[in-house]
Amino acid sequence: MELLEKARAMLMGRDLLCTQDWKKEELDLILDLARDMQKERWTGKYFDVLKNRTYFMFFYNPSVRTRQSFECAATELGGHAQFLEPGTMRLKTAKTAGETVEDAAKVMSRYAAGMGIRILEDKVPEYGAGWSLLKEYALHSDIPISSMADDRFHPFQGLADTMGMQKHLGMNLKGKKALLTWGHGALCRSWCSVQEFALMASRYGMDVTIAHPEGYDLDPEVIGWVKDNCKKNGSEFAITHEAEEGYNGAHVVYARNWMSPQAYVNGELQKKAEIEKALKFPKWICCEDYMKRGNNALFTHPMPIDRGQEVTDDVASGKRSIIYDVAENRLHVQKAYMAATMK
Ligand code: CP
Repeated sequence: MELLEKARAMLMGRDLLCTQDWKKEELDLILDLARDMQKERWTGKYFDVLKNRTYFMFFYNPSVRTRQSFECAATELGGHAQFLEPGTMRLKTAKTAGETVEDAAKVMSRYAAGMGIRILEDKVPEYGAGWSLLKEYALHSDIPISSMADDRFHPFQGLADTMGMQKHLGMNLKGKKALLTWGHGALCRSWCSVQEFALMASRYGMDVTIAHPEGYDLDPEVIGWVKDNCKKNGSEFAITHEAEEGYNGAHVVYARNWMSPQAYVNGELQKKAEIEKALKFPKWICCEDYMKRGNNALFTHPMPIDRGQEVTDDVASGKRSIIYDVAENRLHVQKAYMAATMK
């Protein structure tokens, strides 16, 4: 239990809204604990860590991986994860009267030992609004608040990606090249997963190349942090608007669709227009021909995958794909976080 005791001493009560808010050694500790939890999954070592404790999962948007993995995580630690959605509460919104975030957060803190929130895409009126709501909950709660994906960040996904890359490329990722490439597709994705990937890859010393068509820039503040991370680690950062070039020498390719900065107009996500625009770039699909330019590159993706649009089936299901390992890692990193932060 040494790792867990160390993690609890360092991290008890900590919110996790973005990995960039945490020190590198704190992230390392979560990843080390996650690896031990994976190894000891059925031995009973961690079965009672959160006995009789409840974790609230507050979902504005749907999910496969996040909901199921948090439920399993709580069960495997001896506790319980409870599903909440805004439709079951009387919360105040811009359009309706109801309970304030402050009151809801303070009351929920009296019941559960931790809470995660997911809010993004069509459930926010503009980019950043989901992130602001999480910060408001974190401000008023007496329990640790974590992002289960908001419009800016997806910290558990970034941790799971990193755990997967360390397993397949070695613990020291310095000097390895990560390509984060836009993929055309019909799902109009939020920026949270890709921004978190760029933050973690740069934090762990990787050379980072971001590839996207003109007009698909990510959050300039986040890209600034990625550049700073690369500078501090003496690694390289590049942006290209060519579909193929970024693959050259890549050790890992992360191909994913994301919406453009013009996605929100008058308080609404323009999903149909975004999809029509994205489908005008058929060259932007991760395929075997492009992957051949890499350095025996791994393929990764946070899932769900828009197969045949973001990536071809032969790459997504190919020998170098680590998508299922990364999806499994969500369970281990979340168990580690919950065990370390929840009283
Ligand atoms: N990667 C991820 O968060 O998947 P879900 O949207 O299914 O939770």
